[in-house]
Amino acid sequence: MWMWIILASFIAFILILYLASPLLSPPLVELKDAHVLVTGGSSGIGKSLAILAVKSGAKVTIVARNKDRLLEAQHDISSHTNNGNKEQVQIVSVDLSSDFEEVQKSFSKAESTFGPIQFLINCAGTSIPGRFEDLPISTFQKMLDINYMSAVHATRAVIKGMKSRCEGRIVFVSSQAGQLGLCGFTSYSASKFALRGLAESLQMEITPYNIRLTLAFPPDTNTPGFEEEQKTKPEETKLISETSGLFSPEKVAQTILDDTVRGRFFSSVGLDGWMLSNLTCGFSPSTSLMEAVQQVLFMGSFRIVSIFYLNHFDKIVKECKLRRDAELKNR
Ligand SMILES: NC(=O)c1ccc[n+]([C@@H]2O[C@H](COP(=O)([O-])OP(=O)(O)OC[C@H]3O[C@@H](n4cnc5c(N)ncnc54)[C@H](OP(=O)(O)O)[C@@H]3O)[C@@H](O)[C@H]2O)c1
Repeated sequence: MWMWIILASFIAFILILYLASPLLSPPLVELKDAHVLVTGGSSGIGKSLAILAVKSGAKVTIVARNKDRLLEAQHDISSHTNNGNKEQVQIVSVDLSSDFEEVQKSFSKAESTFGPIQFLINCAGTSIPGRFEDLPISTFQKMLDINYMSAVHATRAVIKGMKSRCEGRIVFVSSQAGQLGLCGFTSYSASKFALRGLAESLQMEITPYNIRLTLAFPPDTNTPGFEEEQKTKPEETKLISETSGLFSPEKVAQTILDDTVRGRFFSSVGLDGWMLSNLTCGFSPSTSLMEAVQQVLFMGSFRIVSIFYLNHFDKIVKECKLRRDAELKNR
């Protein structure tokens, strides 16, 4: 009898939290007619984000380096506009990782046609996996420049405007490799972890200005970037990352956009993603009561699960090493 009362009270408690949670969360924002700038919008997750944004009636600027790919993407994305308005998508060709002045100039130009940037989605990025000793030293700098400095430059270019208007949403697209370090991702993981430090510090600075930041941790996603990364991925890295499955860019983009509109700090995809976000929440901002309760309830038990995962991953790495050693011996 007591068991049932306790169970029913627990379920009622969770239900009340679930229902009350939206009241305590940041307000939803509208995408319709907003200016959404997506870096890395010519391919993969960024392109899917741009398509979803135009479908919601936003004016979208996509930013990347290669002009031909930008034009091709502009054509594809425009075909998804609600009213067939081909003027709803504009392109900006700039290398986000190098010169801040250039980035600032090109963003100002984008704002002169579509108005102030209300949503900045930092999705430009790349991954060069490999064993630590095999990766050229320059790769570590390159990862920081593309995955981290690009986001710094783009965010610096919009932050003053957002602060003066007391509005805005900023997204940093990190990775599950920005939540845990994996063999083969020494240069990539570090650059994606860096985004977390930036995101947590910046969110505290911009909260009084009504600006919300979303830090997204996509799992493996079937994109041109992922295909490229597969070419140099060590065997053990492939085997480990396969454990959380391969997602479509549409699914990942939809989750990121929903979480952005809701003003959630963390955005994760799938069951493993949800577990990782609860497990690694640390001192990150909490954006709803329901989320805070989940973190408190599950963090400890997920740590136990993570130890089993880590043992499994270590076993994979060891088996791959033994196989390589045996192959060398037999040569
Ligand atoms: N796919 C996955 O499995 C996965 C998983 C977790 C996280 N992510 C992250 O999600 C983001 C998108 O990944 P994706 O797989 O969709 O990538 P993708 O298909 O390779 O697209 C990358 C985009 O970023 C642009 N870009 C790269 N460097 C740039 C630079 N210096 N300046 C301006 N634009 C630049 C690219 O265009 P240009 O080359 O023409 O500049 C392209 O538009 C990345 O940050 C990635 O790390 C991906």
